[in-house]
This record gives sequence, C-alpha cells and structure tokens, in this order.
Amino acid sequence: MSIRKIITAALPYANGPVHIGHLAGVYIPADVYARFQRRLGKDVAFICGSDEHGIPITIRAKKEGISPQDVVDKYHEIIKKSFLDLGISFDEYSRTSSKKHYETSQEFFKTLYEAGKFTEDISEQYFDEQAHEFLADRYIVGTCPNCKNENAYGDQCEKCGSTLSPSELINPKSMLSGNSPILKETKNWYLPLNDYEAFLQKWIIEGHKEDWKPNVYGQVKSWLNDGLKPRAMTRDLNWGIPVPLPDAEGKVLYVWFDAPIGYISFTQEWAEKNGKNWRDYWQNENSDLIHFIGKDNIVFHCIIFPSMMKAHGQYIMPKNVPAFEFLNLENDKISTSRNWAVWAHEYIADFPGQQDVLRYVLLSSAPETKDNNFTWKDFQTKNNSELVGIFGNFINRVAVLIHKYYKGIIPQGNTQSPELLEISNTAKEIASALEKFEFRNALSSLMNLARFGNQYLQNEEPWKTIKEQPEKAAQSLFVGAQLAAALAQLSEPFMPFSSEKLLSMFNIERMNWSILENNSVLIESGHRIKEASLLFSKIEDEVIAEQIQKLEQTKQNNKKTNPNAEAMKEEISFDDFAKIDLRTATILEAEKVEKADKLLKFKVDTGVDIRTVVSGVAQSFKPEELIGKQVMILLNLAPRKIRGIESQGMFLLTTKPDGKLSFVTPDETVENGIEIG
Ligand code: MF3
Ligand code: ZN
Repeated sequence: MSIRKIITAALPYANGPVHIGHLAGVYIPADVYARFQRRLGKDVAFICGSDEHGIPITIRAKKEGISPQDVVDKYHEIIKKSFLDLGISFDEYSRTSSKKHYETSQEFFKTLYEAGKFTEDISEQYFDEQAHEFLADRYIVGTCPNCKNENAYGDQCEKCGSTLSPSELINPKSMLSGNSPILKETKNWYLPLNDYEAFLQKWIIEGHKEDWKPNVYGQVKSWLNDGLKPRAMTRDLNWGIPVPLPDAEGKVLYVWFDAPIGYISFTQEWAEKNGKNWRDYWQNENSDLIHFIGKDNIVFHCIIFPSMMKAHGQYIMPKNVPAFEFLNLENDKISTSRNWAVWAHEYIADFPGQQDVLRYVLLSSAPETKDNNFTWKDFQTKNNSELVGIFGNFINRVAVLIHKYYKGIIPQGNTQSPELLEISNTAKEIASALEKFEFRNALSSLMNLARFGNQYLQNEEPWKTIKEQPEKAAQSLFVGAQLAAALAQLSEPFMPFSSEKLLSMFNIERMNWSILENNSVLIESGHRIKEASLLFSKIEDEVIAEQIQKLEQTKQNNKKTNPNAEAMKEEISFDDFAKIDLRTATILEAEKVEKADKLLKFKVDTGVDIRTVVSGVAQSFKPEELIGKQVMILLNLAPRKIRGIESQGMFLLTTKPDGKLSFVTPDETVENGIEIG
C-alpha cells in the first residue's frame, strides 16, 4: 500500500460553468475519495484546474462573440468558485494558461521529440478556404460511416460513440462557413500509439482485469482489439500552446497532449508552494495515481496519456481510472448548449448553506455503472425523508435528550454494549466500498448507521425509562451519543459541512479512520456537548416547483425561433383586450422638454380631440422630423404628470437592433381616430 496518493479530477473545459452532471460523475466522488484518503493518513495531492485550450473554448468564443481569452478568464473564475463553495477540497486548482504549465508541457514535448518518440507526417487536412483556417476535427460535421448519423463530428459520433477521423466522415462540411472544406497539406508530429499496444495489453488487459471497472476495462480492450494508429500531437490552430520547434509556426500542442500534463504542472505548482517534491508523487513507485473522469475521457486517460508517459520513461502509470457514466436531468440528456442543466453556481445561490444536500443527492445517484437520472422531486424526497427524517432526526434526538436529562453531559454507559460494534463495522464497510470506488454503497452504509440509531432509540425509549429505570436511559443515551459521534466522523468525506457542524456540536476532534475502525467509544462519559443546532431542513413544495418552473422556461426558450425574444406574458382574456382603446393619430407639434434629454412633448390630433403627449423618444428622433407623422396612440391610458406636464396618452413604439426607437405606424396613411384591433 502506497503512502502517497496523487488524485486527479478531469480538467473541466473553461467554456461554461459546471453542472450537476460534472459534479456527480467526477468531482464529488473524487472529493469523497480524496477526503477519505486523507483520513486514512495518506499523503494526498488532489489536483485539478481549468482546461483552457482546445476547440470547445474557441467554439464558445464564437458563440458569445468574445475572444477565447475572455471566455477562459470568465469561466475559470466561475468554476473555481463553484468547487470551493461545494467543498471540493482540491489541494491545487490551477489553469492550463499558467506559465508553469506552458513550460512543463513544452518540456515534455521536447523530451519526446529529442528521444525520437514522434513520427513526422505530411498529411492532407481539411481547410476552410473562406475562413482561411485549417479545420479542427470538431469544426467538421458530416455523416457517421458507422451509424449514418448526419451530425457526427470529425473526431467522434455522439450517437454511436465511435471515435472518428475527419476523413472518415461522409459529406463533410465546415462549421465555420458551412462550405465543403478542401484538403491541404500540412506537417504534424505523431505519437505512434501502435508502438505501445504490447505495453498497454500487458499493463491493463493482463494486469487490471480484476480491479478496474468493467466499463473502463472493456473500452480499453475493444480499442486494443481494433488496433491503435499514430495520433497527431500537434494541430494547425491559433489557440493553444505553441509547438516548441523552429519549423512549427502556426502550430499548437494538441489539447489532449497538453491538458493531462496539466495534472503534472499543477502538482509542481502546488509542491513549490508547499515545500514538497512533485516527483515523489509522479515518479515514485510508492505513490498511487488515480484519475477520476467521465466515460468520454477513457481513451485519453487509459491509452494516450499513459503512452505519452511511457514514451517519456520516468512516470508511474495510473493505478486506477474510475470513469463514471452520465447523469441525466429530468430524463433528458444534460446539455450546456441547450442550457439543460442545474448549474452549480445557481444551486449555491438558490440553496444557500445546503451544499451537503446536493452532495448527498448526487452521490446517492452517482452514475457508477450506468447512466442515472436527477429529478427535483427525488432531490426533495431524499432531503426530506433521508437527511431530515433519518440523519438529522437521530442527531437531534440524541443531542436534545442529553441536554434535557443530563445538562449536556454524556452519561455513564457500558462501553462493551453490542450495539457499539455497528460503528466499527460501518467504518470498515465504508472503507471497503470507497477503496473499490463504490460511492453509493459507501453512502448507504453511512445512512444505515443513522437508521440503526433511530431504530435503537425507538426501541429503547429513554424518554420513558428515564423515570423508572434511569440507568437504562443513561445506557441508551450513552450508546446514542457514540452513534451520533460516529456519524459526525464518518460523514466527513460525503457531507463535510454537516460533519464540521456535528463535530463542533459534540465538541469533538476529527479522528483518523483507523480509530473509527477499531474503537467503539468515540466520546467519553462526562464529556460536555454544545447546544443542538439544525443540520438539515425540510424543502417545501414551492421551492421545488420553482426549480421545475425554471426548467420549463428553458424548454420554452429552446423552442423559440429568436432566442433574444422575451418570454410570452401571462395570458389575458378578450375582454381585457377590448378595454384598450388604440387609435391612429397625427403629430401636429413636437418640441424638447427642458432639462430632460430623453423626453419630447407633442400635440397630436387623435380624431377625437387634440391633446398633449410626453414621450421618451428624444434620443431616437429630432423633434422636427416627426411633425406630420401618423402614429398609433393608446388613448384611454390614465393621464400622468411627467416633468410637470400632463401626458394624455401613449405612443406605440418598438426597438430596432441598434437600440433606437421606431414608431409603429399604419402602412398607409389613414384618417385620425380609426380604431386599431
Ligand atoms: N477538458 C476535458 C473534458 O472536459 C477533460 C480534460 S482531462 C485532461 O472532457 F486529462 F485532459 F486533463
Ligand atoms: Zn455514429
């Protein structure tokens, strides 16, 4: 068993905020694991950072109409804060634009280059003549040769999951211009993955059949069966880390070359700040490297990055690569572009102080072996009946009764009671599940201890025995206190905020996991506890309805032909409409209103009368150009005083793309006072 653990979580692309899919399938499980390893006393480096290169960034920049640099600056901060707020305990959260990372990844490239590990190849790449750019695989769409999906990307078909190269696509089109791209020659550097087949075969297929997850093992096996091909480690792009060679103008490192090296550069940054040696973690057999990733990242972490490290020669191989399946939201695929997601930063804003609820719910439905589903109803049920009803309820009863009967001091009890064995058993169960990356099982063991505690109090009824059999009541609450203290300790990897509160409520220190596995008494008789504080609170139907409403709104927005259009207002009846008196009218006079740079004052002929109207159009028109113009007026609006002038009606106006106003007018001049409807 190694003393060091280098735990990595897939670097999120800084092209959008993180959502519950990311959290459930990578970051929360990785955090649980890292926290648990620290409690085992391991020397942990839990490393992550923003992935700031690659096509996802440039696509986002095009979409938002800002530069790639602005995109990564914006989302890096949002993502980083969300992780912090949710208690993801990274030792280092950096970014791939950091100076150290540039150096380390260019260094790495040069080492392989100088050792002759790359092959050079002149190939024909798709080039968009109109946009004057070589096209990244992601910028080419076409028909998948395997499943005939017409919207497959040049690197992958999202429908059948097969990895593709752009030349395999039938009828390719450039996403930049929509044109058919041409083929143009370019030189790139390739890592001949086929040279590493034997090594991968031995290391993974023969060595990790038992301990790697079947989905990961199975995917690797099928790639190896199909045979590996050389893969370009450089790209013709203008966003990324420059290839550190003299004849490589306009070329950058492939994002999947630089990003995983981020794990190393960020460890270096962390080590420098903390007086550690990064090589102890990456280049020492007494260290375990564990990559937490989503299933779409398996090939990169099990084949490409290991081959890079093998080519380099000094690195350890990952001990395990726990890859997760995907989480759906309300039975629909989570999608950043469709805004179909629960965003971490929005959750934090909507549910302040309830981070552990999200952690709990996402862990309990973590997509470990198959895709899973998040629903707001389920979120509410898990909070109300499990966290409030079982966990919180048990803790609260113990704390309140100890205050009530014993003035907050743990009573005397038998330290050998058989119930206490539940504590060490649960600690062992959780540990064994977590070592196997079975987060849901680990969480249910924790919850079962709370259930056991509730049941125990229910059977013992100390509130009844306190009168006639005070010793029995004391015994019950002594045991209750041990169970509560155990929950305070054991919940830390899963629900760190609540654990913190509990430790302080029971006035105890955090313990090493081995103590929990080997002891029954975690809190001594005579120890004083603090006031009971609320851990979890009931989530009402209205709160859930609001979240569901928000998703409904997203669905409506996705149907809009103009995404900028405001959503429809509340429906009205015909009678409501009939009350509105709209007429044609002609402007007779127009002049500026003194000391008001937005307002003009008008005399208008409404057909019914001649009246005064004040309107905020001064920044869109000169008064003189409006005289004689036919307009539409809301006639029966109650008069309002504006800057001391009574305005007796309102013009119908709309806004042009440049923000200037425009009058709604009949398309032919008509008489004044004609009703509109
Ligand atoms: N940014 C990639 C994604 O979101 C993951 C990069 S993981 C690393 O799919 F290994 F490259 F760092
Ligand atoms: Zn396909």
